Amino acid sequence: MKKIRLGRSGFESSRLAYGCMRIAGDGSGEARDRGKRALRAAIDAGYTLFDHADIYASGECEALFGELLAESPGLRDQLVVLTKSGIRFAGDPDPTSPGRYDFSKDYLRTCVEGSLKRLNVEQIDVLLLHRPDYLADFHAVVELFDELADSGKVAHFGVSNFSPSQVSLLQSLTSRPLIVNQVEINLHNTSAFSDGTLDQCIERRMTPQAWCPIAVLAYPAWGNTFSADDEARIRAEVDRQAGIYGVDDWLVALAWLLRHPAGISPIVGSTTPGRIVAAVRALDIDYSREDWYRLLEARNAAPVP
Ligand SMILES: NC(=O)c1ccc[n+]([C@@H]2O[C@H](COP(=O)([O-])OP(=O)(O)OC[C@H]3O[C@@H](n4cnc5c(N)ncnc54)[C@H](OP(=O)(O)O)[C@@H]3O)[C@@H](O)[C@H]2O)c1
Repeated sequence: MKKIRLGRSGFESSRLAYGCMRIAGDGSGEARDRGKRALRAAIDAGYTLFDHADIYASGECEALFGELLAESPGLRDQLVVLTKSGIRFAGDPDPTSPGRYDFSKDYLRTCVEGSLKRLNVEQIDVLLLHRPDYLADFHAVVELFDELADSGKVAHFGVSNFSPSQVSLLQSLTSRPLIVNQVEINLHNTSAFSDGTLDQCIERRMTPQAWCPIAVLAYPAWGNTFSADDEARIRAEVDRQAGIYGVDDWLVALAWLLRHPAGISPIVGSTTPGRIVAAVRALDIDYSREDWYRLLEARNAAPVP
């Protein structure tokens, strides 16, 4: 597995991250066993960055990962453990509470304590603010960053789903480098190419991580707006390229992200060992500029102007 340096940190991580959002499945014993097999397959295939959030299966994904660490002495030190906080589901804490984002110090502090316990680690390597809280007091947030770093509970910080201006605002308040912006990038959602997100990652040496990287091909993207004709046109071009490169179609989608000069790190979220292993092949595709633009044109249903 190819390695990257994570933002302006000293951490090295695998170019592909493994996403743990689905590892607990429906919470049954069978699903949890499948999740553990997926984690082991990812570790064996050389993934070293494991992406979590406190809300994934209401903490069950972090807990499953923590169990694996407890069963595998020495493993923790080989991995980069990333988790996210700041989203609160409806019903928390009262049945009438709405879904919301909450970057208040007390709430985030409690989240971090919970994640540390479930993950069974003494330190979170990277903590991301999951989605921008419109009501955040970012001065208070950076005070909390200091507190968490000084106490050794968190090594590095980053963000997820932040706009470039939100990144700039937060970064202006702290000398700690924000090392990651984790955003949705796939054949449906290409906003990061043009809204400044990836430019900013290059400029500030942040690592962009792409969530749901194979949406459209494996499952409909969030907020899908593609028609059946759009999907057929995109799939035809993907299939054509898959034939040329001699790979499965979804590896073309990964190669398309990997080709961008910002050094996008796709987060692979399959729980199927064969797919987790196969995804690594995308790193070896010598993907051409021409095919990148052919797929963009198929996606846009228009030639570039
Ligand atoms: N920051 C955020 O706001 C945010 C939001 C969403 C996700 N994330 C992170 O991003 C990670 C990746 O997203 P994702 O889980 O959606 O990953 P993904 O790799 O884009 O998709 C994985 C899903 O697609 C299925 N799949 C994979 N290959 C397939 C194929 N060839 N044909 C058909 N189905 C296929 C998988 O099924 P099997 O499991 O059966 O293989 C699984 O259900 C998550 O795990 C999470 O860590 C972050």
